[in-house]
Amino acid sequence: MFATIERLPADPILGLIEAFEKDTNPNKIDLGVGVYRNEQGITPILQSVKEAEALLITRETTKSYIGSHGDPLFAQVLLPLIFGEGSSVLAQQRASLTQAPGGTGALRLAADFIHRIDPRKTIWISDPTWPNHFAICDAAGIRHDRYPYVDPQSNRLDFPAMLAALQQIPHGDVVLLHACCHNPTGFDLNRDQWQQVLAVLQERQLLPLLDFAYQGFGDGLEEDAWAVRLLAENLPEVMITASCSKNFGLYRERIGAFIAVCQNQSEMEKVRSQLAVVARSNYSNPPAHGSALVATILDSQELNPLWRQEVEAMRSRIADLRQALVQGLKPHGLDQTFAHIAEQKGMFSYSGLKPDQVSRLQKEFGIYMVKTGRMNIAGYSQQNLDYLCRAIADVCQKA
Ligand code: LMR
Repeated sequence: MFATIERLPADPILGLIEAFEKDTNPNKIDLGVGVYRNEQGITPILQSVKEAEALLITRETTKSYIGSHGDPLFAQVLLPLIFGEGSSVLAQQRASLTQAPGGTGALRLAADFIHRIDPRKTIWISDPTWPNHFAICDAAGIRHDRYPYVDPQSNRLDFPAMLAALQQIPHGDVVLLHACCHNPTGFDLNRDQWQQVLAVLQERQLLPLLDFAYQGFGDGLEEDAWAVRLLAENLPEVMITASCSKNFGLYRERIGAFIAVCQNQSEMEKVRSQLAVVARSNYSNPPAHGSALVATILDSQELNPLWRQEVEAMRSRIADLRQALVQGLKPHGLDQTFAHIAEQKGMFSYSGLKPDQVSRLQKEFGIYMVKTGRMNIAGYSQQNLDYLCRAIADVCQKA
């Protein structure tokens, strides 16, 4: 059976981890996979997480299953972080949360759920997007199509083209939207543009699936949730996939959530029963360590503010690194060419570097980024900024 199997290429993002590790260049820089790194190039365990872990060792009494929807305390404390304290959606008990193994696991729950309810639905996805969106839809057997997001000529958000495309989507289809910190571009919609998107969703009765993996990395924890709250409060049905990988630094613990906002409590309970079956047939029960950490932090009067400070520190460091890169490119006459990097939000920048330039950066300088030119802004530091700028200037000048 195995003899005829073809060998597949490495994942466009995760494949870079292995290639980077093998590279012997002492100056190498990893701008590939989306993980936060500090000035020392380390992805630290947050102090709030360390303290929650210490508490868990004394508090945890069992390793028994936690059930298909996960830890109830995790849901209880995560929902207000997403919808806001005093949210009408929560007061009306319209939202059901199913804990998932990471944001990816939550997206897979979403795709399987959609397939289960109506396999004829198409999911409309921004062009460009995180490549795994397509892979997840394919794995779930869901059709997908694209709407434009970035103008390939100017490498800027093309909102008129996006809106015009949304207006053509067949009634009732699903639209995947990045709630903040668009991956890979870093171009987010402003509040007026979100209002216009909401109007199209209402008019065409489209069902939004909000990928919410970077809460806290754009403008702040509350600010980044603005679009999620707008849509949840103004539409009868919304799906959200949240991740705690980035804002809690819990990447390998695989902790995220699928949230279905429904018309009313009775529909929510029916949807919830379906989600239990979807989770059961995927992995039965989610892993418990990540949810226990998040619940411990958010539920603690001491750890919650400490965690908020730590998220803010990560967010502002990334924002500073954006400015620093554009400034660092100034002596090379490239600050205008790359001015958009300072305007984008979140961990990623769609730099505008072309595949051949990306490939030269990798081969000649040991600088790794996704072939599309997406760079992880948290991947460089003040220490190697000059090297990065000189390398970018070199590949741009010899283009
Ligand atoms: C990324 O986009 O780099 C992250 O979301 C990690 C991943 O799983 O691809």
